[in-house]
Amino acid sequence: MLEFPVWNVHAAGGGWIIGSIAIVHVFVAQFAIGGGLYLAVTETWALRRNDQAVLGFLRGYSNFFMLLTTVFGALGGVGIWFAIGNVNPTGISALIHNFMFFWAIEWVVFLVEIAIAFFYYYSWGKVSPQFHLQLAWLYWGIAYLSLVIINGILTFMLTPGDWIHTRNIWDAFFNPSYFPSVVVRTAITCSLAGLFSIVTCARIKEEGLRVRMLHYSAKWLMPSFFLLPICLYWFFTTLPPTVAALVENGIANIGAGNLSVLTRLLLLIMLLSVTIYVVSLLGPFFNPRSFTFSFGLAILALGLAVTGATESVREMLRKPYVIYDYLYVNGTLKTVAADSTRYGLLRQNKWIPEKTITDQNRVAIGEQLFRVQCLSCHTPSGYRSMKDLAHGWDRDFIFNRLISLPATNLMPPFMGDEAERRALAEYIGDVVGAPPSELTAANR
Ligand code: HEC
Repeated sequence: MLEFPVWNVHAAGGGWIIGSIAIVHVFVAQFAIGGGLYLAVTETWALRRNDQAVLGFLRGYSNFFMLLTTVFGALGGVGIWFAIGNVNPTGISALIHNFMFFWAIEWVVFLVEIAIAFFYYYSWGKVSPQFHLQLAWLYWGIAYLSLVIINGILTFMLTPGDWIHTRNIWDAFFNPSYFPSVVVRTAITCSLAGLFSIVTCARIKEEGLRVRMLHYSAKWLMPSFFLLPICLYWFFTTLPPTVAALVENGIANIGAGNLSVLTRLLLLIMLLSVTIYVVSLLGPFFNPRSFTFSFGLAILALGLAVTGATESVREMLRKPYVIYDYLYVNGTLKTVAADSTRYGLLRQNKWIPEKTITDQNRVAIGEQLFRVQCLSCHTPSGYRSMKDLAHGWDRDFIFNRLISLPATNLMPPFMGDEAERRALAEYIGDVVGAPPSELTAANR
């Protein structure tokens, strides 16, 4: 473990690179599924009534839909692979080894999905209406399959369940939070279809059609309003006890006014979701006549914020692991970390050329150790920095703190022997500007 070189993303830290790409990607990718259902259902409905106005609208809508999902969805997907492969190579390697066949299916599914999206758009009016409608349903079926697959991998990271002992791939895939998560995500896809659609519908020129479609599209938000709280509760019941306790404390603390980041995010999610529903009811549902495009964009922006907050919570709950109870964020296996004080990081890590610590290289080696073990969650002086967190600590305190810190359950244990721990403490001491120790004073 700790086998890969580390990508130093200075001020912000690598996590934010993945996060910022992933949030936008998830937002668009879930719309790509819900929007597919919206197209299929609405086209079915319009064909039954032979409603040419709605069919005309759908044709324009599918242009926007195809461009957004194929260009943005595809770019975002590539972006995520680039980011996770560089920021957390050990994590992605573990996932690829486990889920090889599932990833392969996922990529084929995605390719077919894009092909059908193009075919669907370009065949308006060129094939029979029935065949065109079948394409819409086929698109949704395939797109939904991609959710069903990727959901197994995402939930595995948080709740690997029996896989930890059995190493059985089906235990990994159909893990404890798999089913509640599928339902939650399905409900979200419908809401996003509603959100994107009210924005699109707000631009329809002909007033009668605009009012009709706005009223109709707002309904897409409603099922999840009732489903989501129930399903989220179901989801939380499947979490490991320590993680569930985090959430419970987070919610309990809202009343006490003790606002941790998790609590703030949970609060934000609740407030934003309720706002979205209330505003969509009052706006496009009850008063479609006065609803405007920029109003729609504002609601959509709230939707993006909720997506960001929920994905952040999901990520936060898993820390300090990439794969819960198995692999730490910094690439250390939990089983290896059990023997942390005898690990000998310099001996094991091939990316640190110096193997012996001397008075001259101690701080430089400390920096290397920081890079390998801590940079995945901290920076020296940017995001979640040593400068802030260890502010005012002296070198001996840091040295001792390095082995007592992981007891907080937020961090993996420090991997290394005493000399290595001393080197890291000296480096952090330099970063926070602690007075020099006897060890280093002679070399200044
Ligand atoms: C899995 C992510 C992760 C890794 C890896 C990690 N930390 Fe942390 N660390 C955290 C979190 C989360 C906190 C709590 C942050 C907060 O309170 O804002 C924290 C807190 C700290 C604190 C402040 C603790 C206190 O008592 O207030 C220090 C110092 C620290 N880490 C040092 C390190 C060092 C040194 C390493 C590498 C050996 C490291 N961390 C590795 C996640 C991590």
